[in-house]
Amino acid sequence: MMLEGKKIIVTGAASGIGRATAVLAAREGADVAVADIDRARAEETAGLVQAEGREAIVIEMDTSKAADAQRMADEATAAFGTIDGIVCGAIKLQPAKLEELTEEGWDRVIDVGLKGYFLCAQAAGRVMLEKGSGSIVFLSSVGGVQAYNGAGAYSVAKAGNVMLGNLFGVEWGGRGVRANTVLPGQVPTPMTAAMFDDPEIAAGRAAVVPMGRVGKPEEIAEACVFLLSDRASYVNAATLKVDGGQAESKMMHTPGRNWGGKKMEYSAA
Ligand SMILES: NC(=O)c1ccc[n+]([C@@H]2O[C@H](COP(=O)([O-])OP(=O)(O)OC[C@H]3O[C@@H](n4cnc5c(N)ncnc54)[C@H](O)[C@@H]3O)[C@@H](O)[C@H]2O)c1
Repeated sequence: MMLEGKKIIVTGAASGIGRATAVLAAREGADVAVADIDRARAEETAGLVQAEGREAIVIEMDTSKAADAQRMADEATAAFGTIDGIVCGAIKLQPAKLEELTEEGWDRVIDVGLKGYFLCAQAAGRVMLEKGSGSIVFLSSVGGVQAYNGAGAYSVAKAGNVMLGNLFGVEWGGRGVRANTVLPGQVPTPMTAAMFDDPEIAAGRAAVVPMGRVGKPEEIAEACVFLLSDRASYVNAATLKVDGGQAESKMMHTPGRNWGGKKMEYSAA
């Protein structure tokens, strides 16, 4: 098993890709701290982890708050004795056209999706630095390397995630703590459900992917588990696209796509 005996935190683990990562990490032998703002759904994920025969704790938290991030690291360490890895995935998608994006909307997305990644990685990372080993995985997006019209601050946060991975990897890699970034493509989850409601739009979304289909949360989880594991022992400050080839394809920029339930225009590539 790839994560035998490891103690892993997943933020945003109550849903979608975070939940799939928590469950796969448990299947690969890890005990998992399920960190999320949504306690009820986090409890469900914890049940799925336990069903894999591993220990789970629920940490109800807001990743954008430094005190919560520190409590997360403290509670995980108290429950499991140490921390071997963290996957940062918590996000709240708030699509908006730039001319309509409010200061509050900007702040919330950046606070949760960028500052929150830093705070959680720092708090968990300090425990890993102390023992000289560990792995940090940031869930970014292909939207962090290509501009999506209408994505508001989301794409800016996602671009920042890539630099955070590079920065942590460069600064801490020599002290035994690797950091890497995963860039998923389109994955139906509760966050993106509205984009896949209309079968015509769903088919159109699949059609811009060279592989001809969108991804599954479990397929993103595989990349996260690999990067958490010792099999990735020489992978550091890397970015891994898991998008069926979408980001390398010009097909993605087609007009009239749907983002978060809102019709929007994409620029021509
Ligand atoms: N689904 C996709 O198509 C897709 C594509 C590219 C990247 N991603 C990235 O993958 C990650 C997971 O996305 P998903 O689609 O599974 O989303 P999701 O909405 O299904 O899950 C996000 C989780 O984050 C939690 N959360 C929100 N705000 C929080 C906060 N302040 N503190 C703690 N938890 C909070 C939510 O409760 C939820 O459980 C995100 O970082 C997203 O940007 C997703």
